[in-house]
Amino acid sequence: RKQIVSAIQPTGEPHLGNYLGALKQWVSLQDQHDNCVFGLADNHVFTSKITAKQVRQNTLKQTAVLLSLGLDPDKVILYKHSAVLQHTALAWLLSTAATSGLISKLRMLPQYKEKSQVHDNLGLLTYPVLMSADILLFHGTHIPVGEDQNIHIEFCNSIAQYFNRAYKCEVFQTVSQLLTTSPRVKSLADPSLKMSKSYGKASGVIGMLDTDDQIRKKVKKAVTDSFGPITVDQDERPGVYNLLLLLSAVSDTHFREVCRKYEYRNVVELKNDLSECLVGTVGPVRDRALELLGDIGYVEKVLSVGAEKASEIAEKNLDSIYRTIGLK
Ligand code: TYM
Repeated sequence: RKQIVSAIQPTGEPHLGNYLGALKQWVSLQDQHDNCVFGLADNHVFTSKITAKQVRQNTLKQTAVLLSLGLDPDKVILYKHSAVLQHTALAWLLSTAATSGLISKLRMLPQYKEKSQVHDNLGLLTYPVLMSADILLFHGTHIPVGEDQNIHIEFCNSIAQYFNRAYKCEVFQTVSQLLTTSPRVKSLADPSLKMSKSYGKASGVIGMLDTDDQIRKKVKKAVTDSFGPITVDQDERPGVYNLLLLLSAVSDTHFREVCRKYEYRNVVELKNDLSECLVGTVGPVRDRALELLGDIGYVEKVLSVGAEKASEIAEKNLDSIYRTIGLK
């Protein structure tokens, strides 16, 4: 049986990279599986420099966007990780099974190297252990995430193996990543970087709460090149290539078809069409989310009902893990 588990860090509002790389898939998975577990990974956000109050506000904001994207709290379990204490309890247990091989791996992870230069802490180093616990607590088997999470999914499989070996049991199964057709969305300001809130220019990121005007301005300013009419060349023309990919993803059109349509046309035409397509996709999501944020009681209720459901499973699963290893 497939168990879908995923999460997003409430670092602010979700952006187009989150949407195309992961969230779009969450919405379609809820109709194919009756056991999707989707979390607001608020515990993780504490590894960056932020106040608890901000984390709480971001969590509500992000939940509103998830709901407006069409996630249905009657079909999926939607909750914030901090409300389910078993996440950190399992993370602790896993960490005791991860010995020197995994400790040195943690120090080598690119995300740790980058982020620790800005704000170092122990949580940042052991972040992948907590993420593994987020997945293994629900016996996740299929994880809809973007390509940037490759290393973390690999890490989860390693730590699960270490654990199974340490306790001579088969508690945890192998986990696989579910990718969308656009698993790595690039920044509009620099097509060599992924679209991200935590680094790179803000003008390269389309937020799911951006106004129509902001979207149009960002697309207009998107960095391309001076080679003239459109040709498809990922290495030489990464900016143009990114815009073609985005239009293909947002309009649900095959990439080849988009290329055929725009080849030899002007980049400005591509940008205009992409802008309008994005406004058409993001606009209604933003408007619904803003409406939901006007009724914060409802959003809070969704999260508390979700936390109840998640806690029930998490309690049962952790209990069964404790029994397997002989603690109970
Ligand atoms: P986070 O919050 O950085 O991103 C949420 C999801 O969006 C995807 N994503 C992208 N996909 C394509 N292109 C991009 N430019 C882009 N930027 C982000 C991410 O791959 C992710 O799927 N560690 C996770 C959160 C997490 C988690 C978990 C995920 C915590 N526990 C358990 C799965 C299972 C993270 O930081 O995602």
